[in-house]
Amino acid sequence: QEIHYFSEVDSTNNEAKKLAANGCPEGTIVVAETQVTGRGRLARGWYSPFGEGIWLSVVLRPPFGPMDAAKCTLMAAVGVNRAINVVTGVGCGIKWPNDILWNNRKVVGILTEMSAEMDVINYVVIGMGINVNIEHFPSELAPIAASLSVAAGRSISRVKLLTAILSELENVYVLVKKSGFAPVLAAWRKESITLGRQVDVRGFDRSFSGVAIDIDADGALLVKTPQGVERVLAGDVSISP
Ligand code: BTN
Repeated sequence: QEIHYFSEVDSTNNEAKKLAANGCPEGTIVVAETQVTGRGRLARGWYSPFGEGIWLSVVLRPPFGPMDAAKCTLMAAVGVNRAINVVTGVGCGIKWPNDILWNNRKVVGILTEMSAEMDVINYVVIGMGINVNIEHFPSELAPIAASLSVAAGRSISRVKLLTAILSELENVYVLVKKSGFAPVLAAWRKESITLGRQVDVRGFDRSFSGVAIDIDADGALLVKTPQGVERVLAGDVSISP
């Protein structure tokens, strides 16, 4: 396995995509102490202060089609959530599709990017931002973000957590390759804080509210509205209080 460690990088996902395009082996990882232009979903940035988090990207070359790539994100969320629980004892929940929250505030964000031709995935880069030992967030993030050190009331070893994350990710990935996504989707449902809740969905072309009732076999969120059940594959979901 290749490990690419940087003190500073623009975005670990960008580095990982370059390595992947140049043929790096599956399982290659990129980690950095800080990212200058860390990227979030929906063209947002990602706050990546030096030495205070795990800013990590993993290159996979999964043997399934592009339609299954979204489920890689669910798989990563399950793996990371387990590792957090084992190493820190902090119980977090997964918000669809890929946020890990503690006390309603975001501790982990996941950004999956893919390159595919026709029906074949060339590579998938799973980028994970884990707020580990951040004591102070910028004011705009303070109400919506949290870190594991704040949740646990002590500082957390990034090396221990990174090691656990990689081993849990490997476990779930091996399981997916052997048995398909069903066991991962079942684990995701158990750890979800979205299901059963009233949610507001903001998609690219539509917005609506309803009750999140399940995820389907593709990992899409099913939301029950007065008009019927809507299927959400991408977009922003906020949980009503
Ligand atoms: C989100 O919740 O919007 C996704 C955030 C993903 C952040 C991580 S940090 C490591 C990797 N490199 C990036 O530029 N983004 C991801």
